[in-house]
Amino acid sequence: MRSLINILDLSTGEIEELIQVANDIIKNPKAYSDKCRGKKLATLFFEPSTRTRLSFEAAMYELGGNVLGFSEAMSSSAAKGESVADTIKTVSCYADIIAMRHPKEGAPLVASMNTEIPIINAGDGGHNHPTQTLADLLTIYREKGSLNNFTIGFCGDLKFGRTVHSLIAALSRYEGIKVVLVSPKELRIPNYVKTELLEKNKIEFTETTELEEVISELDILYMTRVQRERFFSEEEYLRLKDSYILNEEKLINAKKDLAVMHPLPRVNEISVSVDNDDRACYFKQVLNGKYIRMALMLKLLEVE
Ligand code: CP
Repeated sequence: MRSLINILDLSTGEIEELIQVANDIIKNPKAYSDKCRGKKLATLFFEPSTRTRLSFEAAMYELGGNVLGFSEAMSSSAAKGESVADTIKTVSCYADIIAMRHPKEGAPLVASMNTEIPIINAGDGGHNHPTQTLADLLTIYREKGSLNNFTIGFCGDLKFGRTVHSLIAALSRYEGIKVVLVSPKELRIPNYVKTELLEKNKIEFTETTELEEVISELDILYMTRVQRERFFSEEEYLRLKDSYILNEEKLINAKKDLAVMHPLPRVNEISVSVDNDDRACYFKQVLNGKYIRMALMLKLLEVE
């Protein structure tokens, strides 16, 4: 059985297929309402989540299946010292597919090596978040009509932001993508993303600390939260947390068809007033996340 650990586990053809299925579900949800009758999804969340867990659960219910699981490590036997491998072997006796979030990088990969059922990485530490990337790609496709030929700015915590790392990995396979990296010096993108993804795939990119200087060039602006939970020092977090706050004034110089994206949760980095701007796409991303997860589960469960 196939798992999804890293977005690059899917070919660009498979991503296109998922986007087509998600678009079809959006148009015709009733046709899918019984597709997973009798199937069970386990959501194992060892780290907090609102969107990812609930969208997986809503997705399985809308496919006619059922859901079991836990939303915090302390309510599972992990609190008594059970290993990820033993937890997965156990849950595999009860479920057909598992969506798992864990603070340790690589934990979903370990899980996939200990079961015959599909594991979906729902976020592992500061590493990867492939289903957020699928939600982002569906949003870009629906807003821009293509996954090629645009300039995208990533702004905020590019060091710890796993959604940024996964989306850059996905976009590095498309044509005509330009990347603008906007962050404080302390939160720059990890070197491996630059060398292994951007440079290796000949993606044009620039780095800056000033959002205002580049905002007018962008077709997409992907804002991110400073990831408090991954900082070693609270003092350092407090110093950096409000490095960028997007508001209507800063959007004056932006393109009229800019798409403002954010994986959410937002803390302070986008003013609430921006929510009413036609360019705000982050709640569309939330909804798209449910549809693409429906398409993904149909694929991994090999449902026709
Ligand atoms: N985007 C995202 O992963 O949100 P949650 O942490 O609420 O799941």
